[in-house]
Amino acid sequence: VPGPTPGDMARAFRSVRRDPLTFLGQVSEHYGDRVSFPVPGAPALLLNHPDDVRHVLQVSARSWGKKTIQYGALARVTGQGLLASAEPSWIEHRRMAAPAFHHQRLEAVSDQVRAAADGAIAAGVPHLVPGTSRLVDVAALTHRIGLDAVGRALFSADLSGHAQRLLDATSDAAELVVRLGRSVVPTARWAPTPTNVRLRITRRRLDAITAELVADRRARGRAGGSAAHGDDLLGLLLDSGLDDAAIRDELVTMVIAGHETVAGALTWTLMLLAEHPKAQERARAELAAMPAPVSMLDHRDRLPWTRAVIDEALRLYPPAWAISRRSTAPDVLGDLAVPEGTLAIISPWVVHRREDLWPEPLAFRPERFLDPGAGRTGYLPFGLGPRLCIGREFAIGEMAVALDRLLATHRVTLPTGWRRPRPEAQVAVHPEGGMPLLLTRLRADLRG
Ligand code: HEM
Repeated sequence: VPGPTPGDMARAFRSVRRDPLTFLGQVSEHYGDRVSFPVPGAPALLLNHPDDVRHVLQVSARSWGKKTIQYGALARVTGQGLLASAEPSWIEHRRMAAPAFHHQRLEAVSDQVRAAADGAIAAGVPHLVPGTSRLVDVAALTHRIGLDAVGRALFSADLSGHAQRLLDATSDAAELVVRLGRSVVPTARWAPTPTNVRLRITRRRLDAITAELVADRRARGRAGGSAAHGDDLLGLLLDSGLDDAAIRDELVTMVIAGHETVAGALTWTLMLLAEHPKAQERARAELAAMPAPVSMLDHRDRLPWTRAVIDEALRLYPPAWAISRRSTAPDVLGDLAVPEGTLAIISPWVVHRREDLWPEPLAFRPERFLDPGAGRTGYLPFGLGPRLCIGREFAIGEMAVALDRLLATHRVTLPTGWRRPRPEAQVAVHPEGGMPLLLTRLRADLRG
């Protein structure tokens, strides 16, 4: 398998760390469907062809585990939570958490997600007189929506109390995960490096907050005389009989996996809509024509254009820009035999920009997604196979609800001297330096 030499890698070292997205794009363009990186031991492959991607994540998923640097770094914060965990505990936990994401439950939390969006908009663009505009960092606005929606929907918690502290501590943790994932020389966990020290402090904060959150809910259950703890995620976890450490791991996992990703996706969606006023008007008209406030499930069959906008934004700016696996047994990828221990890196960012799958790949064209079934090969913003994102429907539903609230009250346009911010590969893909867009208060809310 072709790929850069150790000398190439040494020369590219700085750009790999500063801008992994561009680096992955360049090596893919240069070397093609499979790129081999020069590492000692078992091969490390970047797999760009949809057949290889499907093989690793879906067809042969049982032979490809998560023992990678990416998930090792995550596990230092989330422990054995759903995202980083391996069989056999993974399947049990997945089954247990699933009802928190069932359709009925998503419908029921629509009001909370709407309230999260309204609260963030009111705080981010306060007192804007109809017809006037303000420059707003949309990245900060969507971050707040993401945090608040996860907290309200999954813990039914009052965010002014414990949950807000949990969410804040988790943001710090997410930053540390990125740092650990990028460290080239793994340091011993006990070594008092600045990152290790911060990690230890952050973990202690997370432990303390989740312990309080759990104790509160247990006390409320006892006071109410009920054996069950409620049907949000926290209630399910408590009813499942998991110990407190496992409950903590799941809570932290959901906050990390569920807020930065949605925030990033919404931010880029708003930028694309500001760049494409006709697409924005069409979404606004479609949302305004809904007889009742948009719910978390309406995107499934009642909002085709808004859904296509979301799908296309997730194609161009997939928040989860890299997915990694390591083979647990020898395997064959098409015509290529790989040994046990092979590292597979799959980048939705790269696959979504393949010209053979997506004509004019860099163009924002939601129409691609209006034709059912078209262009679905090589589309994996939420992963594929058994480890597909459990929050997929939640995320798309939340995006639709947030877009409804924003577009019903504001028009989004580009400020003068506009230049697209550089996409930065963090836990999710974020705009470097924020996303300043112009928000204009509409003269009349399109929805009451
Ligand atoms: C898994 C992306 C939102 C929770 C994943 C995976 C991807 C992904 C690509 C698969 C990782 C792999 O195979 O290695 C996204 C994107 C989101 C999003 C792009 C938003 C636009 C959410 C939300 C939640 C969530 C809102 C929870 C509230 C999880 C969990 C897993 C996961 C727990 C692990 C599932 C398992 O292994 O069983 N996500 N996600 N995600 N996601 Fe999401």
